[in-house]
Amino acid sequence: MRTNLKDAVRRLVHLAGRGNGPGSAGATGTDAGSMSAARIHEIKDIVSQRYGDFAASGGVAEACCAAVAEESETGFAVEHGLYSAEEMALVPEGAANLSRGCGNPVGFARLEPGETVVDFGCGGGIDVILAAHKVGPTGKVVGADSAPAMIERARDNTTTAGVGDRVEFRSGDLADTALPTGFADAVISNCVINLCPDKEQVYREAFRLLRPGGRMAISDICLTEELPTELTASFVSMWSGCLGGAIPTSTYFEIVEGAGFTDVSVVTGCASLMWPRLER
Ligand SMILES: C[S@@+](CC[C@H](N)C(=O)[O-])C[C@H]1O[C@@H](n2cnc3c(N)ncnc32)[C@H](O)[C@@H]1O
Repeated sequence: MRTNLKDAVRRLVHLAGRGNGPGSAGATGTDAGSMSAARIHEIKDIVSQRYGDFAASGGVAEACCAAVAEESETGFAVEHGLYSAEEMALVPEGAANLSRGCGNPVGFARLEPGETVVDFGCGGGIDVILAAHKVGPTGKVVGADSAPAMIERARDNTTTAGVGDRVEFRSGDLADTALPTGFADAVISNCVINLCPDKEQVYREAFRLLRPGGRMAISDICLTEELPTELTASFVSMWSGCLGGAIPTSTYFEIVEGAGFTDVSVVTGCASLMWPRLER
């Protein structure tokens, strides 16, 4: 069967929301639904391995959000000009090559000098670098990622970018960062949580890290219409591209609000992604 995905819209959602402070989250359960703990673990291993290989290759191996334009070397966000020329001037080549985001969360996170920021799934560090410039030498940015090779690259890239004095990295799963409760002013993330099979737990963790009144700025991918069952099944079985874990926008918002966030809104225009390689 050939299904043309050009009409099956995947949407880039750029979210902003505010935490009311640790302890007020009301969500229970998991979006992973009936997925077993073993399967969740397996998916996380697949994702971590893929991005580890991608980082080790310096951005040559294929990874999620490996630009929609197949010839691209830099990924969707850079390729589509979601970062300004001024921002890209701050980003070393090594970080640009590893960029695999779908938005520019720092662009709407309203970061201020002196703030503490956590980047969920920091990859090669492009948004850590931009956030570090916003918070300045009195602020701090913590990049968290499950792929140790990504963390190594991000560390090198932030040093090259001259912001190594205000960044830290944590290697591990976003569902449990082991960072202190309520210590962050903002959580940012760029095209990561769609890859997580336990989104509710990841959003609860983001909420836990935020101080009362803290905020998050997220770029991510959601489905805006139902995909054919067999296609969904094949994405999920491979956990492939950015779509294996993509869920409908309405469910995504329920998860975010269920974790305790309020004033959640789509803050920038959404783009529809075409993914010709997924036609079959
Ligand atoms: C699509 S890339 C985006 C990287 C970066 N945010 C950017 O804009 O270039 C996704 C990143 O999230 C990380 N990641 C995915 N699932 C994760 C999880 N459960 N815990 C920690 N990191 C995760 C991957 O290792 C990868 O570096």
